[in-house]
Amino acid sequence: MKKHLVISTGAGMSAESGISTFRDAGGLWEKYPVMQVCSADGFARDPAIVHKFYNERRAQLDTVSPNAGHRALVDLEQHFDVDVITQNVDDLHERAGSTRVHHLHGELRKVRAIDDDTLVYTLRPRECTTPDTRIDGHAVRPHIVFFQEAVPEFEPATKIVAGADIFVIIGTTLSVYPAAALLRYVRPGTPVYYIDPNPADVPADVHVIRAGASEGIAELARILLDKK
Ligand code: APR
Repeated sequence: MKKHLVISTGAGMSAESGISTFRDAGGLWEKYPVMQVCSADGFARDPAIVHKFYNERRAQLDTVSPNAGHRALVDLEQHFDVDVITQNVDDLHERAGSTRVHHLHGELRKVRAIDDDTLVYTLRPRECTTPDTRIDGHAVRPHIVFFQEAVPEFEPATKIVAGADIFVIIGTTLSVYPAAALLRYVRPGTPVYYIDPNPADVPADVHVIRAGASEGIAELARILLDKK
């Protein structure tokens, strides 16, 4: 029986693929006013700017590839029953080959009907949207969780974390809730690892690997496979 390995990833997971993080020097939130392009109020105020912002981020997706860290997580599926819970909206975990990926904050390649959030559509490569776009007659919005909005995938994610035999956090400042609270849902005694070159403060029993994703996951694999 393979142990259940649950991995929670943030923007740092995609940094080595060339996708900017949000809060590092030069990060996305230094270049864009976050509440204008990633909040419910911002979308209500000027949807055209929000559509443009996500069209640009989606276009970048076609120019980047999964990195060695993404691929190392796929390799771990040979030894563990792996769930990836990501704050990232890119599709790099899927393109690397991870088989169970849960997006807490939505998916860049998808939009959904404004008048019915059960209608979710995957855009074609290089397809852009504007406030005037209609799909099946519906006006659409990015399938992204904006600030000031609920995170419907959080509850299901807590159940996955509660079933983990090992919990790993990679590449996140742990500054955005409720995603940052996933750590609280591990069963007592569950080993927790945190891979980040500039880690946020975490409880003393968390095993911090101060490294980038690719190097850190290689170190994690050595630790976990030595313990098997
Ligand atoms: N490998 C691993 N981690 C890295 C690397 C790397 N090569 N480079 C940077 N990091 C780390 C940084 O040290 C930082 O801890 O990635 C983290 C990036 O933090 P943020 O930019 O805050 O990204 P994240 O924590 O994912 O943000 C959470 O905020 O804006 C919202 O919805 C957005 O999902 C996002 C959420």
